[in-house]
Amino acid sequence: MAKITASVYTSHVPAIGAAIDLGKTHEPYWQPLFKGYEFSKHWMQENRPDVIFLVYNDHATAFSLELIPTFAIGCAAEFKPADEGYGPRPVPKVIGHPELASHIAQSVIQDDFDLTIVNRMDVDHGLTVPLSLMCGQPEAWPCPVIPFAVNVVQYPVPSGRRCFMLGQAIRRAVESFDQPLKVQIWGTGGMSHQLQGPRAGLINAEWDNRFLDRLIADPADLAAVPHIEYVREAGSEGIELVMWLIARGAMADVAGGAKPRVAHRFFHVPASNTAVGHLILEN
Ligand code: DHB
Ligand code: FE
Repeated sequence: MAKITASVYTSHVPAIGAAIDLGKTHEPYWQPLFKGYEFSKHWMQENRPDVIFLVYNDHATAFSLELIPTFAIGCAAEFKPADEGYGPRPVPKVIGHPELASHIAQSVIQDDFDLTIVNRMDVDHGLTVPLSLMCGQPEAWPCPVIPFAVNVVQYPVPSGRRCFMLGQAIRRAVESFDQPLKVQIWGTGGMSHQLQGPRAGLINAEWDNRFLDRLIADPADLAAVPHIEYVREAGSEGIELVMWLIARGAMADVAGGAKPRVAHRFFHVPASNTAVGHLILEN
């Protein structure tokens, strides 16, 4: 059977992708940020999964106000890096895992969660920047990736509680797949940031670090936080953090197993307008 070996959490700031693509990672502004991911790149090489289930949000790239799925699972054989206005990022195309993705869709929908099936989709910085941070600049990404897009752009957005429950359903789905695959689940986006309006530039490092503490130690309690608290405390785009609860809900302890091991924890301000948070939890 397939199993979830670890969960990875990271911000996805598009300027990080640009810094990598333009060879600026050693500049003084960026150096401290990329230092925080050196461990992670080694860890990825030593803990290479067979598949990454990557929870992220689309930023009005593949979807628009014309069509807004709350949860969308990418079942295609491949996904192209999207052109977000400056041409596509010079990164490898994403190879999917249609068999596992279809199985997860079947299991999770029968488990009463509504998923939108996506058979064709370009993937934006929300998905490619986490891959770059964890894998560097390879010729090809190290394994197939199942993109899982969550609407955190247009209200109403799903609650943290629903995301946490969905993570548990994804775990049940993965564990009922009849191949011995090592699957990592990634939760991306966040941490505190607000890109528009009078509070643009908002950072709340204290709230962010408390979020990391609670995500590790008591995710069920954290899942009860209402969306208005994310927006008030972590800024309008801080709501991206609900996606981390999907990945956390898929970890073994939530289903009565052992507590995860914290392999790595990192926090850094600033990256563009965003506080960057990063965690690796092993089952
Ligand atoms: C920034 C952060 C994001 O999460 C995003 O999607 C776009 C921009 C930023 O900080 O610039
Ligand atoms: Fe974003």
